[in-house]
Amino acid sequence: MLQEQIPDLAKCVEPDRVRREVYTDPAIFDLEMQRIHEKVWIYCGHETQIPKAGDYYALQIGRQPMLMVRGADGKVNVLYNRCPHRGNMMCGDRKGNAGEFFRCSYHAWTFQHDGRLRSIPMMESGYAGTRYGKDNPDCSMKRAARVENYRGFVFASLAADGPSLKEFLGKAIVAFDDMCDRAPDGEVEVVPNCFRVIQHSNWKIFLENQLDALHPSVTHQSTGRAAHEVEKDIAKRTKKGEAPLSYHMLSAFATLTIDKWDNFQTINYPYGHCVLTGYMGLRPQDPDTLAYDKIMIQKYGQKRFEEIVGVNIHHVLIYPGLSVQSPLQQLRAVRPLGVDRTLTEIWHFRLKGAPEAIYRRSLAYYNLVNSPATLINADDLENFWKCHQGLSSDGGDWVSFGRHLGRDLEKDGVVETAPNCGTSEAPMRNQMKAWAEYMRG
Ligand code: FES
Ligand SMILES: [Fe+2]
Repeated sequence: MLQEQIPDLAKCVEPDRVRREVYTDPAIFDLEMQRIHEKVWIYCGHETQIPKAGDYYALQIGRQPMLMVRGADGKVNVLYNRCPHRGNMMCGDRKGNAGEFFRCSYHAWTFQHDGRLRSIPMMESGYAGTRYGKDNPDCSMKRAARVENYRGFVFASLAADGPSLKEFLGKAIVAFDDMCDRAPDGEVEVVPNCFRVIQHSNWKIFLENQLDALHPSVTHQSTGRAAHEVEKDIAKRTKKGEAPLSYHMLSAFATLTIDKWDNFQTINYPYGHCVLTGYMGLRPQDPDTLAYDKIMIQKYGQKRFEEIVGVNIHHVLIYPGLSVQSPLQQLRAVRPLGVDRTLTEIWHFRLKGAPEAIYRRSLAYYNLVNSPATLINADDLENFWKCHQGLSSDGGDWVSFGRHLGRDLEKDGVVETAPNCGTSEAPMRNQMKAWAEYMRG
């Protein structure tokens, strides 16, 4: 039925352009939720968000309210946040501890942490001879069809069939390896809690911006310039002639011009995932970094240490719902709420075993670049809203992704941008290619 309403879905996506309805049509949005978000592996959260038995965290997968919950056996379960009795939402809070079991607030049906029915008040007298009871799976809370955990990062898929998480992530798995390997103890710990931002724009607009190397030196130029002025001023007034590294995180937006962004490269993988290589000065020689390096060398040896800190990544996009900046331990989860409303959860992590100063650096980036309070995020949010407004108008039918078209280098399903084409729109073309494949069903 939905398909009849959208007869020309295939015609919506061409290799270098996309129809505007893809961003604005509520019927297409519904189909996306069904064919993409409620099917593929979606990031639920990090297992350190729920350290104790009974801890839960509420999240959204597509249109489905879900719960990530830690069982007494230590296992992480992902359940629909719904009571099988009359449909009451099991947990109204975003997070908490359920105690030894879930207890529905409406008529006190209780459930184990893995969703299995535990008891119904006066079950025998109330339900003798009926189909309701512990043997009926419909009386338990429904579980996500598949749940997998990679190095502490928990994903769920609401479809029973499909690639495993590792197959799905493919080479983009580097996002989690790069983040965890940088920890002397080999793992990260989430910093509670996240920033939550609701953007008044379609979810794809956010994702397309993540590896858009063309925009930073334009969109964030004014913020970068202001930071650069302050940075220069501080440098002048200090003995060593240097400002704190955090100023550089912002000033780089002005000092890195478009031609310099072209020096980076994007690598575009199957399923719409992409990596943007290159990073701005992440191996400084300040005392904090040197102290960290020493701990890492003790743990891993010089050779492995060089391999770990030599991983050259700015950003990894895991389509359709995750943007990871592994060298700075940042992650943004994208949760579509409607055709023109998108929630992002902005998280950051601690490297276990690393000195506090290294965490402070991650926190500085979190606050200065990714938080809702920073001008960088505000610059982007305004663009997202304006894009959605423009796309809702009759001012044109197409969104163009033609930059450096035809210069990509393709081998074994992986598309690399050619040298000096870092600002290519290849990542957007790659995302829309995956989108079209998913939407074909
Ligand atoms: S709706 Fe949950 S026990 Fe009745
Ligand atoms: Fe930006």
